[in-house]
Amino acid sequence: MKGVILAGGLGTRLHPLTRITNKHLLPVYDRPMIYYPIQALINAGITDIMIVTGGSDAGDFLRLLGNGKEFGLKHLNYTYQEGEGGIADALRLCEHFADRQKLCVMLGDNLIEKNIGAAARTFTRQATGAHIILKEVPDPERFGVPVFEGERIARIEEKPERPQSRYAVTGIYMYDETVFEKIRKLKPSGRGELEITDVNNLYLEEGTLTYSVLDGWWTDAGTFQSLHRATCLVVQGGANKSDPLESGENRALARSVK
Ligand code: DAU
Repeated sequence: MKGVILAGGLGTRLHPLTRITNKHLLPVYDRPMIYYPIQALINAGITDIMIVTGGSDAGDFLRLLGNGKEFGLKHLNYTYQEGEGGIADALRLCEHFADRQKLCVMLGDNLIEKNIGAAARTFTRQATGAHIILKEVPDPERFGVPVFEGERIARIEEKPERPQSRYAVTGIYMYDETVFEKIRKLKPSGRGELEITDVNNLYLEEGTLTYSVLDGWWTDAGTFQSLHRATCLVVQGGANKSDPLESGENRALARSVK
């Protein structure tokens, strides 16, 4: 499976920090934010990676990461998103890179403590469809939120005022090759973006979306509060820096929602 890290967008929620640089280049404790999702994919055994970036500082990613030698990689792929059309708009740019293979997509501002290798391996055996990873959180209204009917996800609501569960859909998504057809069907949301939640709902309608619940901590880092939280978690809890051991892996309790 190939990997994609989405690091476009304008990061306006972090102004003035992001006025002169890209959010994913900001420090989270002792390294730039983008290092964490790169290491998370590598720890899961995914080494063919595309980075989607944008804005006026895109060249800084190349200067910082080069061909990924610091991570033991031989090569990194880059592409450029014009504007801020949403997560699915950024993913759209990876169709050629995917070359009909499955993808593990991670948002560039997401950090995890443990290893998603088991979920990734389970998904490579899943014939078709998609896999999402959930985490129980105290503030689900900030995220995509699954609505359950028993153990089955009926639908996912994006940033609902009244969340129907305590779970967030984390920014780690696994897709088969049909993801690009699905993106082509999308219409911009109220906030003018192509929403990844709409993509996941199309897989739900098809009955091919599975999910698992993440073990260990997870956070985004796109607001002052969550950026601070990410730094504290890394300081206290290590994060998935370069430990390829799979102790406490994602439980990978892939359950079909069919
Ligand atoms: O963090 C998980 C959440 O991420 C999910 O629960 C939500 O369902 C999902 O919509 C997303 O919510 P956010 O509103 O927090 O996403 P945000 O706009 O902050 O974008 C997250 C990352 O996606 C960002 O760090 C870079 C990438 N991105 C985003 C946009 C809007 C792009 O590459 N291009 C874009 O145009």
